[in-house]
Amino acid sequence: MEWFTDDNVNKFCSRDTTFISKEDAMQYIADVVIPHPWYRAICLNDKPIGSIYVSSFHGSHICRGEIRYEISSKYLGKGIATKAVKMVGSTIFVDWPHLARLEGVVAVDNIGSQRVLEKTGCVLRKYYHVKGKPIDIAMFSLLSTDQ
Ligand SMILES: CC(C)(COP(=O)(O)OP(=O)(O)OC[C@H]1O[C@@H](n2cnc3c(N)ncnc32)[C@H](O)[C@@H]1OP(=O)(O)O)[C@@H](O)C(=O)NCCC(=O)NCCS
Repeated sequence: MEWFTDDNVNKFCSRDTTFISKEDAMQYIADVVIPHPWYRAICLNDKPIGSIYVSSFHGSHICRGEIRYEISSKYLGKGIATKAVKMVGSTIFVDWPHLARLEGVVAVDNIGSQRVLEKTGCVLRKYYHVKGKPIDIAMFSLLSTDQ
């Protein structure tokens, strides 16, 4: 409830879930958090104040994991997200040895989150497997709306 009901957090999150009641939260924990392959609470003095999780890709992208995180806005700007991302960086490659790269994608207007990832050294290295090895790539894009 601490961060899922926080509009300052929700505005940057892709999920549409907002909780009204404790039952909503319990249902989300049962349906999403517990079955998730790698989902953790971010705790301060044993109190959960945020969450952090990693999802893995499949096929030729198996070497990549995507990290996401959120923290109650009461605790922002104290370096907590940066520390949590670093802690995940030091454990995820042990927990999931198939990963060569942990990455984060961030909305262009989410400057705080970009700063967190900059500080932890994430920049498209080791992006996909070619002949059994993760290689670095450059990415370009053309959109349906481009002239
Ligand atoms: C992004 C988020 C996790 C940051 O948490 P946090 O604990 O405040 O992060 P940290 O304190 O470790 O670092 C934040 C950095 O961004 C900077 N920052 C924050 N907002 C900023 C802004 N609007 N403009 C410039 N810098 C900003 C802080 O100054 C700090 O940098 P510094 O240490 O060099 O001073 C938190 O704001 C959040 O939960 N946001 C909503 C969910 C979200 O965006 N999740 C990520 C989706 S990709």
